[in-house]
Parts: sequence; C-alpha cells; structure tokens
Amino acid sequence: MAPRVRVGVVGIGRGLWLGERAAAGFELVAVCDTDEAGLRDVGRRLGVATYTEYSRFLEHDMDAVLLANNFHEHAPFAIKALAADKHVMSETAACHTLAEAVALIEAVEASDRVYLFAENYPYMAFNQEMRRRYRAGDIGEFRYGEGEYVHPDPAAVKLARSRGYDHWRNWIPATYYCTHSVGPVMFITGTRPEKVNGFVIPFDANDPTMAHSAKIQDTAATIICRMSGGAVVKSLHGGLRGHGNYVRIHGNRGLMENGRHGDKQRLRIWREPWETPVGESSEIVYRPTFPHYHEEATAAGHGGADFFTLRAFLDAIRTGEPPEIDVYLGVDMSIVGIQAWRSVLADSAPVEVPDLRDRALRVRYADDHWSPDPARSMPGQPPSSVLGRFEPGAEARALADKVWSDA
Ligand SMILES: NC(=O)c1ccc[n+]([C@@H]2O[C@H](COP(=O)([O-])OP(=O)(O)OC[C@H]3O[C@@H](n4cnc5c(N)ncnc54)[C@H](O)[C@@H]3O)[C@@H](O)[C@H]2O)c1
Repeated sequence: MAPRVRVGVVGIGRGLWLGERAAAGFELVAVCDTDEAGLRDVGRRLGVATYTEYSRFLEHDMDAVLLANNFHEHAPFAIKALAADKHVMSETAACHTLAEAVALIEAVEASDRVYLFAENYPYMAFNQEMRRRYRAGDIGEFRYGEGEYVHPDPAAVKLARSRGYDHWRNWIPATYYCTHSVGPVMFITGTRPEKVNGFVIPFDANDPTMAHSAKIQDTAATIICRMSGGAVVKSLHGGLRGHGNYVRIHGNRGLMENGRHGDKQRLRIWREPWETPVGESSEIVYRPTFPHYHEEATAAGHGGADFFTLRAFLDAIRTGEPPEIDVYLGVDMSIVGIQAWRSVLADSAPVEVPDLRDRALRVRYADDHWSPDPARSMPGQPPSSVLGRFEPGAEARALADKVWSDA
C-alpha cells in the first residue's frame, strides 16, 4: 500500500473541515491558525501539532499543505510552501492580484512539487457528466454558457461567518468570488475567458441582509466573458435571493443544464426534434452518478465535489502527473474576478484576461498590485463597491457587536 501523505492545514474553518475528511490516503499531522483559542481546542480534540506562525508550521515534518487561510492571501502562502518543498492544495482564490498570479505561476514552474487549485464545483456529478457528454460531442461545439453561484444569508449568519470589519468576506468586491460560477463552465468546455465585462448589482441599502451586515461591497456580480473559441459566458454570483448553483451549456447541436427546481442535481439534455436520431427522445432528464468513486464521493461535502479535489491532489502527488485544475487553470479562474472589477469601475468596458502561460505577457503584469485590500492601501487602489467607499450603518454595527460578542 502507498504510504499516507502527511498533510498540514492552514485555517481552522474550511481548512479543518477538509483536513478532517481527507481520510483515505492522507494523515492530518499539523494545523496552523492565528486564532490561538480555536487552535488550542483543535489541538486537544485531534491530538495534532498546532502552530500560530506559518513559518514554524512549514518546518513541521510533512509532505503537503492545504491552504484555507484568508481568501486574498493564498498566493504568498503557496509560494512559501513550495519553497519549503511541500505539495500545495490552495483554496479559492489562487491569487489576489495579477502580480501574485505571475509570481505564483513562476514559483510552481520552478518547483517539482504539486500545486492544485481546489475549485470543487466542477466536480459535482452533473458537471462531470456535462463534461463527459461535451467531450463525446453530444451537443456539438460550445457557443454560450451560464454559471451561477447564488448564496444569500441573513445578516446575522453573514456576521457570524465574517468576524471583524476587515474580514475578507466584508470587503472583497462582488466580482472576486467567481470561481464557483465560471470554473465549471471552463472545466466542462476546456475554454478560458479572454475578455470580460463586469457588472454589479450595487449594495442594496433596502435589503436587510446587506444593510444589517458589515459588508461594504455590492450585493452580487454578473460577468460576461468572451471565451477562447468564440463562445460567450454569463457568470452570476453573490447574495441575491434564490440560493443555488446552476450551469447551462449551449452547443451548436444541443443544450445541457442542471435542474433549477426540485432535484437540482438532475441533468437535462435537449436536442431539437429535427436533430434527434429516430427512436431517441429530444429531452432527457436524469440524475447522473459520479463516474468513479460514487459511494465515497456521495458522502463528501459540496455535493461530493470535495472528495474529488482531495482525490485529484493525492493522485497528482502519487503519480507526479500535474492535476487537471493546475496553477494555470486556477489563475485563469481567479483573475477573471479581478479583471471584471476593473471593468465594473470603468463603466463595464471590456478588460483583457491575460493568458499568463505566455511568458511575454507576464512582464506586463509582474508589478500589478492593484487591490481593494484595506491592508494594501496606497494611491490608485480601488474601492470595494461601485458606490465608492462607505462604512457599515448604525444598525449593522449594533448587530455586529451582538453577534461578535456572543461568538
Ligand atoms: N471551495 C469551497 O467550497 C469553499 C467553501 C468555503 C470556503 N472556501 C475558501 O476557503 C478559505 C477559507 O474560508 P473560511 O470560510 O474558512 O474563512 P475564514 O475567514 O473563516 O477562515 C480563515 C482562517 O484562516 C486563519 N488565518 C488568517 N490568517 C492566517 C495566518 N496568517 N496564518 C494562519 N492562519 C490564518 C483565520 O484565523 C481563519 O481561522 C477561503 O479562501 C474561502 O474562499 C472554499
């Protein structure tokens, strides 16, 4: 039997959740977080080594790290882990600026360790099945797609998840959390966005889920992407009402989409009657199973998708073959949100999404540190909302005080 991969986790929220489930093939040996009290509990409960300092954590004897620290801080953490000879699985987003994108790609290229971008939504059963069918030519060539990740919550739930006015969930612009919506379409069709036009549904002061939270960004974002190969994609994500995730792929011979009502795991395939072979049905609706590991995957999180990111990481480490969602695809999925924010602030003008596989293009972006991160404040940095800079209101502050002190 192959030896287990000794893994350390950074971040005791999502990270620990993943680390504890990484059973087959992995052994959780260390956990790192700056939250000392939380870390003490984790250490007692799991009996693993704990660290508050990332550099000390990287000295731990282990093979790999799962990065689930702050959304906007993954690239520098990944670069340090690769330099310490660890395999890296990085949560979303891969990078927070174009300069980080270049630095991350170059660090992965200089290393012999695995880097996997843990975008999990493409691995949901209906997305894997759409990819299989797309590759089999069932709907012809890709022409138009939609990816949606809509996730509203009451203000108190938002506040409990994002403690502190400077928590990333309170200020990342609405376009940035785009990998769950645009990622599946890219994965299914093998295309990448070349240009984006970004739009936002502005911060809604009449929506208590926004007005009573600590958010200073917009309610939701739509990104229109012009893809390699000429297709157009609409990505929608954010806190609108209507919780769900949805993917729709139009080819020039048919359509595939997952369910929008009832069992949303179902897949619908539509071919026009005149193009449907005799004896077959124009419309097929079914609930696909996973192509492999169906039982293990069904028990995992996010509709089974988390099983596949962990499994892909293990396979890449064991075989030495790069994972499918590698650094290039991870960066592509992530920088869509950054470039779309530039577009939003330029009245939705088109903005290039550079293909940083091209070394010549990297030169142009290697010093691009454009970011709304309050900790990177300097002249020329953008606001978090299309409405400009503002502070949470009195009701939001009162609720935040209550939720954060209860927690
Ligand atoms: N793929 C998915 O389905 C999915 C789901 C949830 C979250 N995520 C991603 O996982 C990441 C974490 O999400 P979360 O909800 O757990 O966020 P979170 O903000 O609750 O947790 C981040 C953790 O990192 C810790 N941290 C921050 N700076 C640190 C440092 N310098 N050293 C060590 N630890 C540090 C924080 O104390 C916190 O415990 C985010 O990037 C998010 O986008 C992905």
